[in-house]
Amino acid sequence: MMTERQKDRITRAFSNKASSYDMAADVQWLVASRLAARIIDAPIAAPLRIVEIGCGTGFLSSHLAEAFPNADLLLTDIAASMLARCRGRIGDRARYQVVDGERPEGLEGPFDLIVSNLAFQWFVDLGKGIERLSKFLAPGGRMMFATLGVQTFQEWRAAHRALGLTSGTPAYPGAADFPWPPGFSTQIEEELLQQPYADGHDFVRSLKALGAGEPAPGHQPLAAGAMRRLLASLEDEFTATYHILYGELVA
Ligand SMILES: C[S@@+](CC[C@H](N)C(=O)[O-])C[C@H]1O[C@@H](n2cnc3c(N)ncnc32)[C@H](O)[C@@H]1O
Repeated sequence: MMTERQKDRITRAFSNKASSYDMAADVQWLVASRLAARIIDAPIAAPLRIVEIGCGTGFLSSHLAEAFPNADLLLTDIAASMLARCRGRIGDRARYQVVDGERPEGLEGPFDLIVSNLAFQWFVDLGKGIERLSKFLAPGGRMMFATLGVQTFQEWRAAHRALGLTSGTPAYPGAADFPWPPGFSTQIEEELLQQPYADGHDFVRSLKALGAGEPAPGHQPLAAGAMRRLLASLEDEFTATYHILYGELVA
């Protein structure tokens, strides 16, 4: 689980990477399209009030703006520079607010639809964060999101294990042990995406360009020698699994 101090570092990391994010975000773009298709297919009468949590540079936001032209669309992110990029993409069609999605005190609800693409995995406490957000749903309102599951980066962990090292990949939930808050109708579907990289270096570079290189709390980054050995063991093409959980909660 992330700590609040670590969250400050995550916010800074994303803030610093707003300009390189789009070039490195193939998986995020693909998952945003898939999540958008799910949202558009959901039995939503006429969502008038929509909030997106962790909108980043606006991948999912652009689908929302197009699919729901008459909705009140509020786009939020914890990192102001990500939000500024998003505003550059979407323009005056939406409202914008810097919000920590798991401590959304400044939000003014209720919302018919709360959505989020690949941001919830950065929450310090995923279950509590979702529970707090659920309080902003109007009766019958729906939360739809994509987040990372337990098999994410399993090849990276295995490469560490093969050398007797421990990976700093955070602990993600599985579909079966997902920390849903009680009292809601929920469902979850999963997908495994295999993303090829030229080698281990390319994988690490790509995570850093996304601002997503933050290790699990308490994990000491590998010493330079250990990192060199690890990357030497991954000199050929390296494939990383992204285990995507598509979650849905109805109030
Ligand atoms: C991997 S990016 C995904 C961005 C966008 N949703 C997309 O699909 O491209 C994660 C985003 O979540 C934001 N984020 C991280 N922790 C957050 C939090 N606690 N509340 C709101 N946003 C957060 C980051 O600033 C970043 O913009």
